[in-house]
Amino acid sequence: MTGRVGVLMGGPSSEREVSLESGRNVLGALQQRGHDAVSLDWVGLSDIPDLLRRANVDVVWNALHGTYGEDGCVQGLCEILRVPYTGAGVMASALAMDKIASKGLFQAAGLRGPRWTVAPDEDAARAFGLPCVVKPSREGSSVGVSIVRDAAALAAAFATAARGRGVVLCEEYVKGREVSVGILEDRPIGTVEILPTSDFYDYEAKYLRDDTEYVCPAPLADHVAAHLLEAGATAHRTLGCRCYSRVDFLVDDAGGCFLLEVNTLPGMTSHSLIPKLAAQVGIDYPELCERILAGAGLNV
Ligand SMILES: Nc1ncnc2c1ncn2[C@@H]1O[C@H](COP(=O)(O)OP(=O)(O)O)[C@@H](O)[C@H]1O
Ligand SMILES: [Mg+2]
Repeated sequence: MTGRVGVLMGGPSSEREVSLESGRNVLGALQQRGHDAVSLDWVGLSDIPDLLRRANVDVVWNALHGTYGEDGCVQGLCEILRVPYTGAGVMASALAMDKIASKGLFQAAGLRGPRWTVAPDEDAARAFGLPCVVKPSREGSSVGVSIVRDAAALAAAFATAARGRGVVLCEEYVKGREVSVGILEDRPIGTVEILPTSDFYDYEAKYLRDDTEYVCPAPLADHVAAHLLEAGATAHRTLGCRCYSRVDFLVDDAGGCFLLEVNTLPGMTSHSLIPKLAAQVGIDYPELCERILAGAGLNV
């Protein structure tokens, strides 16, 4: 046993509700396995140092998602307070949250992604070529992401992305299937295909609709699946992630794989992808939570 576990959830990000759901599930699973686990619901932005100090926990199971919880901020606070925590450390969390930083590292590691550029203004986006995907560099949950198919839609897409964190990026539009690779204990555990019923896997499809379908394992040719598993593990390692993550790809009709991003604190709700992938390899939800707990530590 690891002593008293604080399941940190909620938080001030736009993903608060999803995090509460992840956190409640994790808390229930750990308690069911006999752990002394308590809920740490982070509400006000500046409350977190007090919350962590007062809770008097030996380890934090980080069930936050998005800004502050997933980008290295909370990890930094845990480092300073000397409380071990689950998931990626400060640097890996920050790198994964920043699409420019992570793309640079992926390219250096030989991992293929969509062709991309930074678009300082609308004209730069226009010069990139269509169809393209316009997105902010430091958001998640598809916030600010638009697919632009005709020039008339570009101005609105640029403005939407510019309201997000970071700078605006243009990416080549990859027409393909959406496949994620699950990583646990730093090894790939499987693939899952996401079949959104909307135009792309947007915020609504992620959180507000329940008609998105998931196929696990993803129906892919063996060599494509093998490549994805390896590329997923390489992406996880390249950013220096710890224990678990979910790596997102697009796979085109020719089997070409395009790495989109690494999510360092993927959803842990009952219908989230990492729990589905773990179940496929015989790891039930409580065991998954315990294995992630076992990977906790300090790691700047
Ligand atoms: N280059 C692209 N080509 C086609 N679709 C894309 C591309 N980039 C993103 N998308 C779609 O937008 C979604 C969100 O993009 P992503 O880069 O993963 O941002 P976020 O960090 O907000 O999840 C993806 O899951 C995919 O459905
Ligand atoms: Mg994504």
